Amino acid sequence: MQQRPLGRTGLTVSEIGFGAAQIGNPELPGKQVETVLNQALDLGITFIDTAAMYGDSEARIGEYISHRKDEFTLATKCGDYQVTENGTRKTVKDYTPDGILKTIDTSRKKLNMDIIDIVQFHGVPGDTDDTKAAFEALLEAKHKGWTRFVGISQDGSKGARAAAEWPLDTQEFTYNILYQEADAILFPTLRDRQMGTIIKRPISNAVWQRTEKPEKAMMAGPWERVQTFPLAELAGDMPLIEFALRFTLSHPDVSTAIVGTTNPDHLAANVLISDGQKLPDEILQKTKQAFTERFLS
Ligand SMILES: NC(=O)c1ccc[n+]([C@@H]2O[C@H](COP(=O)([O-])OP(=O)(O)OC[C@H]3O[C@@H](n4cnc5c(N)ncnc54)[C@H](OP(=O)(O)O)[C@@H]3O)[C@@H](O)[C@H]2O)c1
Repeated sequence: MQQRPLGRTGLTVSEIGFGAAQIGNPELPGKQVETVLNQALDLGITFIDTAAMYGDSEARIGEYISHRKDEFTLATKCGDYQVTENGTRKTVKDYTPDGILKTIDTSRKKLNMDIIDIVQFHGVPGDTDDTKAAFEALLEAKHKGWTRFVGISQDGSKGARAAAEWPLDTQEFTYNILYQEADAILFPTLRDRQMGTIIKRPISNAVWQRTEKPEKAMMAGPWERVQTFPLAELAGDMPLIEFALRFTLSHPDVSTAIVGTTNPDHLAANVLISDGQKLPDEILQKTKQAFTERFLS
């Protein structure tokens, strides 16, 4: 597994990280989650991304692998969290200073970690929130020693603005063959500030495997894009998941690409792609051109 620096944090992380959103699904057997989390570490993954709003994810990380904490860097998120009301889980957005600090403290307990490596906002605070007070609370968590580093998970110009305005260490955002918008403003802004880059949806949820348009907007957008994208032609003989992941990893400013999976075979196959081989420049240029022609003009 290839390692990369996480911006100016001084941390080094595996270029393929583990996206822990899916393991939060309470319907997934705990045994399967325990296996996949331990397998990730055994295979050399040293970066895990979770969030207060990913169901049972934080508690399962705390239960199954917190005893191996010296083997990985853990990033969680606050601002959004989940509550169960009448047996139904719902998401609460709370960017008040009190809410932010309470959420982080709860994460410390669930994760079984006094000090969390990275806490990020799960998006920018809303229009009616006091943005300044919210970022000050996030920074206070750092001063209290509850987290070593702070960041934000946010795409687009809102993400670039937050990175430029606040002393953040990391940023999480979308970058993949079908969503290359970050090339224009976000990557250059983060490079200037030497921030660590955590890439979510690095294989665009493998949407090309779906024959029907998914209902969820988060999946429907990439599905629509892939209908007009010459993915197979660009990938040539390379399997599409491998092509997609190599594309993301070929970006020199990517610190870690956090692939989400609950499938041990998929995890093992993905890790093999981290062999230091970037896509040839010609293919990279053609893939960028195909994107620009279809989605930016
Ligand atoms: N707002 C935010 O901050 C935000 C939003 C979205 C995601 N995230 C983070 O980013 C992580 C990754 O994003 P994501 O999971 O949405 O997208 P992704 O990593 O691009 O795609 C995950 C999907 O790809 C499938 N997959 C993975 N490896 C595969 C393989 N070798 N062959 C076939 N299918 C494969 C997985 O299914 P299987 O389980 O079947 O392998 C899963 O459905 C999340 O877990 C989460 O930590 C953050």
